[in-house]
Amino acid sequence: MDSIFDQIHERRDTDSQKWQKYEGKDILPMWVADMDFKAPQPVLDALHERVDQGIFGYARPERSAVDSILEMLERNYSWKVDEEWLVWLPGLVVGLNITSRAFADPGDNILTTTPIYPPFLLGPRFQNRSVTKAKMALDGDRWVFDWEAMEATVNEKTKLFLFCNPHNPCARVFEPEELEQVASFCERHSLILCADEIHCELLLDGRRHIPIATLSEQVSQNSFTLISPSKTYNLAGLGCSLAIIPNRTLRNRFAAASRGIMAEVNNLGYTACEAAYRHGGEWRDELLSYLGSNRDLVREFAREHLPGIKIYEHEATYLSWMDATALGQDDPVAFFESHGIGLTDGAFFDSPGFVRLNFGCPRSTLQEGLNRMRNAIQSLG
Ligand SMILES: Cc1ncc(COP(=O)(O)O)c(C=O)c1O
Repeated sequence: MDSIFDQIHERRDTDSQKWQKYEGKDILPMWVADMDFKAPQPVLDALHERVDQGIFGYARPERSAVDSILEMLERNYSWKVDEEWLVWLPGLVVGLNITSRAFADPGDNILTTTPIYPPFLLGPRFQNRSVTKAKMALDGDRWVFDWEAMEATVNEKTKLFLFCNPHNPCARVFEPEELEQVASFCERHSLILCADEIHCELLLDGRRHIPIATLSEQVSQNSFTLISPSKTYNLAGLGCSLAIIPNRTLRNRFAAASRGIMAEVNNLGYTACEAAYRHGGEWRDELLSYLGSNRDLVREFAREHLPGIKIYEHEATYLSWMDATALGQDDPVAFFESHGIGLTDGAFFDSPGFVRLNFGCPRSTLQEGLNRMRNAIQSLG
């Protein structure tokens, strides 16, 4: 039987950033991280019901929405979170900017590893904090931390480590030992640990996510975690995310840095978030199996038909990280666009010559996108 994820939904004439970018052009958009799938039916039903109420005043989460988060964290990760640790955010990019303001003063350094999701680099800069970058390394086809590079990069001005797990764009799910290493590195250098775990429900092949804050009480008190239902349930346009900040002092600093400039979460965001966490599990399981097959297709197709493209172990997310430097193109994104496929430029992730392909789409669309990549490469002769 066909999967619901095989259905094509026309997004060209909708308010989609992803599709509007190439309006009027025959370019398949496989760039920004949202999926071409409808949100789970229980989420749509809850939204309809909320819209039918017809009033959209200043919002505050219902008790049941708060409980849905706490229950999800306990159910999925055996993580007992206190209600007062939750800070609702209209988006995690906002969260990364507030984080930079809150936990580093101008002149301080914020450390992250590259390649990395661009707002990890831009958030600090937008807030006039400097970023220091340690490059990740390869262990075979797997991206890993380069501890020597990390130790060489950190100094007394470094105050904060921005950590992404599961990793965008490297698609890694860090092992318990790697999490321990991250935590002890932060402790040794007195760094506050910001863990962006937005992709934590998108682990493939039955892997289990471990929130780094659950390693120990000490890590929990020295860190905070950013999550959102937006990636998994395809709700990015509804702007509902959370910071989980167990330590009161850190929470107060975060609140002080947000005051007056952070928008509140909107009514529909709360509604969708609760419905996704309460009733989205079955849909998510199907999604993961579909994404796993899409990942396999990308891997097999790249191996057979995309000479000059290198791909890596892919453990989570629907974002495939590709080294295209061997193609010898100054601007690989423009090159692929000229053959009808729109990818994300690795330069934004501090990796020029790389591209990122979003395979959160029906398989037929993915196949067409991959065919276009093959045609592009074949055109080089
Ligand atoms: C690691 C990571 N953090 C944050 C975001 C964006 O979050 P939001 O849409 O809530 O701003 C993304 C989006 O792709 C992401 O990959």
